[in-house]
Amino acid sequence: MKCRALIFAVATAAFCLGFGSAVPEQSLREAAQGSGLLIGTAVRPAQFSEAAYASTLAREFNLLEPEDALKWEVVHPEPQSFDFSQGDQVVDFAFRHGMSVRGHTLVWHRQNPKWLTEGNYTSAELAEILEKHIKTVVGHYRGKIFAWDVVNEAFDELHPGTLRSTIWRDQPGIGLAGNGNSYIERCFRWAHEADPHALLFYNEAEAEVVNRKSDAIYAMVLDFRQRGVPIDGVGLQMHIANLHADVASISANIKRFTALGVQVHITEMDVALPVDADRNPSQADLQRQADIYGQIAAACLSHAGCAAIQTWGFTDKYSWMGSHSKQTQGAALLFDRSYRAKPAYEALRDALEEGRR
Ligand code: XIL
Repeated sequence: MKCRALIFAVATAAFCLGFGSAVPEQSLREAAQGSGLLIGTAVRPAQFSEAAYASTLAREFNLLEPEDALKWEVVHPEPQSFDFSQGDQVVDFAFRHGMSVRGHTLVWHRQNPKWLTEGNYTSAELAEILEKHIKTVVGHYRGKIFAWDVVNEAFDELHPGTLRSTIWRDQPGIGLAGNGNSYIERCFRWAHEADPHALLFYNEAEAEVVNRKSDAIYAMVLDFRQRGVPIDGVGLQMHIANLHADVASISANIKRFTALGVQVHITEMDVALPVDADRNPSQADLQRQADIYGQIAAACLSHAGCAAIQTWGFTDKYSWMGSHSKQTQGAALLFDRSYRAKPAYEALRDALEEGRR
């Protein structure tokens, strides 16, 4: 849709047809500029040395998030030592290419180091460890990481609407078990103390639509806002399986969160497709996938408070979906394994060019 802007500029589509080929295609980040939406992706710093990876990333995106580099097992490998080398590579890359950085994630029940999970710490010790972790990591990136997923996936899948049982909440927890969301509140307050300017997000899976999980998050965010707990946004992961997305419900959900005065970021979007033994999807599914990317982007753009769309990687070459689905699904991202743009890329760019309506 490279001619869309020209259609308005010169009034006739004929101009477009005649001169369209001379107009360079826009990248995603160029297409997103008019709407002020950040267009991002999760990244793996080990791949920065691959020319096609780095050039595609720099050309297309203006927002990066380390896919794994800031998780506990990487950044806090020993009780007394932090390793910021991978996270720093992401921040450096972003800085050199004029990109913003989201941080992921400070409090989660997964990808924690053994010294932590098998340490038999008391609640008082865990509280001290967690406060130090949050303040050290957020402090290290103060002024460089503009938004943090402070707490990730705290609500349960099996008993929707209730909090998950984790090392941080009640196994044994940081001393606030049985006290509702207060352990989450404590984490947001610690992060805010470490960087008062960073935007602080609660990030969640399977809460994209209006459902019992997103209802519980809504109630928590409402309560936090009313009591002045420093929360600035909600991250909706958007890992879409089975080629099914209830876009109307997703839009209604974004609407109710942004009405609370918090931002919504789509944080981890991918649309998994069934793949054959050679890991290839069908042409028909690629088109259905494109429709979903386009529709979700349009839904985000229709709410002023929906401020970022981020995919969980950008090339199928390095998507987590293969190992996550035991190779039954894949091809979930915008570029194929050879960095060729897929129909999903075109659909997303079309939506970005369309802008906010
Ligand atoms: C995934 C990463 O993509 C993988 O590399 C890693 O092995 C496991 O975690 N929700 C999240 C992300 O919040 O951190 C997860 O990332 C995907 C699900």
